[in-house]
Amino acid sequence: MIKVFCDDGSTAIKLCWYDKQHHEPKTLISQNTFTEGWKPVGFASDPIYNYEVDGLKYSFSKASAEVIPTTNIDFQYRTENLLSVHHALQLSGITPQEIELWVTLPISEYYTNHDAQENTFNIQRKISNLQRSISLNKRQVFTFGKIRVYPESVPAVVSALQIDNVHPLEQSLVVDLGGTTLDCGVIEGQFDSIAKISSDAGTGVSLVIRHVQDALLKADTLSNYYVADTIIREMMAGNDVNIFPLINNVEYIATVKTAFEISRNRLIEKVIQHVEQNYRGFHRIYLTGGGAEYLYTAFNAHWSTFKTKIKKLETPQLALVKALAEIGKHQ
Ligand SMILES: Nc1ncnc2c1ncn2[C@@H]1O[C@H](COP(=O)(O)OP(=O)(O)OP(=O)(O)O)[C@@H](O)[C@H]1O
Ligand SMILES: [Mg+2]
Repeated sequence: MIKVFCDDGSTAIKLCWYDKQHHEPKTLISQNTFTEGWKPVGFASDPIYNYEVDGLKYSFSKASAEVIPTTNIDFQYRTENLLSVHHALQLSGITPQEIELWVTLPISEYYTNHDAQENTFNIQRKISNLQRSISLNKRQVFTFGKIRVYPESVPAVVSALQIDNVHPLEQSLVVDLGGTTLDCGVIEGQFDSIAKISSDAGTGVSLVIRHVQDALLKADTLSNYYVADTIIREMMAGNDVNIFPLINNVEYIATVKTAFEISRNRLIEKVIQHVEQNYRGFHRIYLTGGGAEYLYTAFNAHWSTFKTKIKKLETPQLALVKALAEIGKHQ
């Protein structure tokens, strides 16, 4: 049974697997944008993915403004999660078959609140949800012979701690900013132990996305999460010309930009506050998750004495799933 590693976040599924011929890990990012009902099969160039779960019909739709919202903590146990994982697997190019699937849960869900032990109830709830039956029109689906659940954030830094030759007494803070949740943890040495964990299920990039979506409405533009995210990324990269086709009333571009800047700064402040309220005495900071792109510059300015000891992991959105694949290779 082949293993497929899957960081099934609320906004995007990140997959990693090993190709039989090459031992290089392959990766893929798939967006969680589904609408209710099926799409007509026609002349369009994109393949159609029409799913059915419990007698209800769903379809993958990257640009529709009517996609089912996924930026909530409950996503982990809902039909949208089942759909998103199966959809990412379909895009991987792996032949549908029985696989061993590794998935993730935010720290706040993976551990119990009171004594930081594995929350077996939530872990089982997630596994049961993924074992639900699903069908895909005119295609085979994957089945899961075994499902393993891992916590988010902390595993992402396993290899970075080794590369940085971290001292056994050093404490490294990991900050994983996702679409819905902020997951943090402190690791001692090169993963000798996890000293502390914390999570804030209300702090994520979706706070910024929602503000930008509201501002886009002023520009007569109804957008889904993925479209708003694409507009933001183009603005961050300074490629304004690329967003003109997506905004109906371009006179309001300045309004959209201001909304973005205000909510981005507010998000950064919330993350810094969370770290300051929960952690002391750390020596290094590792940023991961798609939100790392938002935080890197601000963290460097705020903890300026850390200098090179603040790192954004390479391909931060994929760092966790790549780390899981590295762990899973030897098991
Ligand atoms: N390169 C990038 N530049 C700017 N923003 C990015 C980039 N990559 C990802 N993002 C944004 O970061 C968000 C979080 O990405 P990530 O994949 O870590 O979230 P998630 O795992 O789906 O969420 P969660 O862990 O909270 O369930 C994305 O939804 C996207 O808006
Ligand atoms: Mg995530």
